[in-house]
Amino acid sequence: CGIVGYVGPRAAIDVLVGGLRRLEYRGYDSAGVAVIDDDGTLVTHKRAGKLGVLEGDLLRAPLPDARTGIGHTRWATHGGPTDRNAHPHLGDDGKLALIHNGIIENFAALKDELLDEGHVFTSETDTEVAAVLLGSEYRKAGDLLTAFRAVVGRLHGAFTLLAVHEDEPGLVVGARRNSPLVVGLGDGEQFLGSDVAAFVEYTRRALAIGQDQIVAIRPEGIELTDFDGNAVEGEEYEVAWDASAAEKGGWSSFMAKEISEEPEALEQTLLGRVHDGLVVLDEISGGVDDETLRAVDRIVVLGAGTAAYSGLLGKYAIEKWAGVAVEVDLAHEFRYRDPVLGPNTLVVSISQSGETMDTLMAVKYASERGARTLSICNTQGATIARESDAVLYTRAGPEVAVASTKAFTAQVVALYLFGLHLGRVRGVLSDEDSRAHVAELQALPAKLQEVLLQGDAVREMARQMSDTRSVLFLGRHVGYPVALEGALKLKELAYIHAEGFAAGELKHGPIALIEPGQRVFVIVPSPRDSSSLHPKVVSNIQEIRARGAHVLAIAEAGDVAVLPFADEVLRIPLAGPMFEPLLAVAPLQQFAMELAAAKGLDVDQPRNLAKSVTVE
Ligand code: G6P
Repeated sequence: CGIVGYVGPRAAIDVLVGGLRRLEYRGYDSAGVAVIDDDGTLVTHKRAGKLGVLEGDLLRAPLPDARTGIGHTRWATHGGPTDRNAHPHLGDDGKLALIHNGIIENFAALKDELLDEGHVFTSETDTEVAAVLLGSEYRKAGDLLTAFRAVVGRLHGAFTLLAVHEDEPGLVVGARRNSPLVVGLGDGEQFLGSDVAAFVEYTRRALAIGQDQIVAIRPEGIELTDFDGNAVEGEEYEVAWDASAAEKGGWSSFMAKEISEEPEALEQTLLGRVHDGLVVLDEISGGVDDETLRAVDRIVVLGAGTAAYSGLLGKYAIEKWAGVAVEVDLAHEFRYRDPVLGPNTLVVSISQSGETMDTLMAVKYASERGARTLSICNTQGATIARESDAVLYTRAGPEVAVASTKAFTAQVVALYLFGLHLGRVRGVLSDEDSRAHVAELQALPAKLQEVLLQGDAVREMARQMSDTRSVLFLGRHVGYPVALEGALKLKELAYIHAEGFAAGELKHGPIALIEPGQRVFVIVPSPRDSSSLHPKVVSNIQEIRARGAHVLAIAEAGDVAVLPFADEVLRIPLAGPMFEPLLAVAPLQQFAMELAAAKGLDVDQPRNLAKSVTVE
């Protein structure tokens, strides 16, 4: 969900709605704004549904003179997505408005207390409890900042909160605990956002708000304190994204745009990290130095969704190049099963947003138990990055479509860079081998560009399959995570039942699913690879073909051995075995997108999904 705040000379409504629009990628099911109009009255509009519904209301009742306000897009947690449950919520005198992301864990106890005092509630949300509590504290304190501090100190759980009061125009207060909030610093105006996309069109100067901090923004400046009111220094930074990067441009969807940006995402992620043909990752040495890396005896890779699948590819690379045992775990499973962690365990978390609550909690848990933590993250200053000992940023740029594409490939490259670095630091990988792998990485952007040129063929394939009910994906070795990711993309986007399997597992069960007409994508390893996996996968294809499967192969250019058995073939350029996944996954991303488009579905915002899931 998204949060925006504004004070300054502009029409607040425009800034708020524009900011919410840019935060749409975070996923939401209702939206609302509260502004203080020039006559000093608080005006609130909130509606279930997409932003357009809210904008319709605002067109009918424009508020061009309001200069202070807060805006919110909500993804329902407590209480369904209704107009009433949408944010902002008001204090019970109607003079203050509050918006909230996250979950207030002790809301039931607080609500009972407020009910006993005679307060009334109009929604089922935990947020309204905070709003009513703020109203009650305001009556005691007489000023918004003091009252807000008193409220924040009583809340448990995860939250970002913003509030305004009609008696104090020109002021927005905000607080954060375990949920994102960033300040945008302007000249005579200030902004707040869940991330910089909210205000990047107005300012590139951002300030990250730390854990358990409160910020007050006024046109002339900001005031940052901890929850007790002690002044703290914020970290100011320059936002590298420009506003146009968060726009769709001429593309049919953000996803189409983002897939097309994959070669660039790879290139950017490599940038400055290769010197003299070898990987140099100075940026992580502050928190995870070479000595630590030499002592590491086990690596646990954590993530959720697509990030976990990139982690699985990292396992193959790190074990091969650095000789360290790697375990990949879903962040939400890891934390609840007493994982074995020692001082020499390195936990590598992967998250595009850097805000996924499951992953954040797993990282914190690992730190508390003494593990070293490295995060691979796409969002500058994100919470997971800040909670980790070191961070390696993927530089995929803003990813707006809910289903991850360019962030995935950039994550894989970051993991590969890390694996190569680790291998050299530990003396396992020779400079010569390392240089060969780096050269493979550097050749990928151009090869991927070539792969993307098959987009029309993929679209045609997808169109012909628009009534398909089930698709299977098979891969082996590094093709296996590709199969899993291909299936996930199809589930997410086209709502088709899809499963990815390790090809070797076929005979142990999944082959029972094969019946005439069943579509099966097979990621075929290179026939040039000495591991002899190619003939094994070709045999798998024959086995399913014999049972009537319709086989769609993704195979290396020039691999003729698959031709007699595959119904359709998509080609990828020659690359080393470890690097093929970075080429093979793109056609599957395109396929899922095209199939969703052929079914008339919203490619960028699939039903029931959120880009950044900030609840557990
Ligand atoms: C959500 C998204 C997925 C994403 C996952 C992890 O479930 O819908 O597309 O892969 O979160 O997100 P992260 O930001 O941590 O990479």
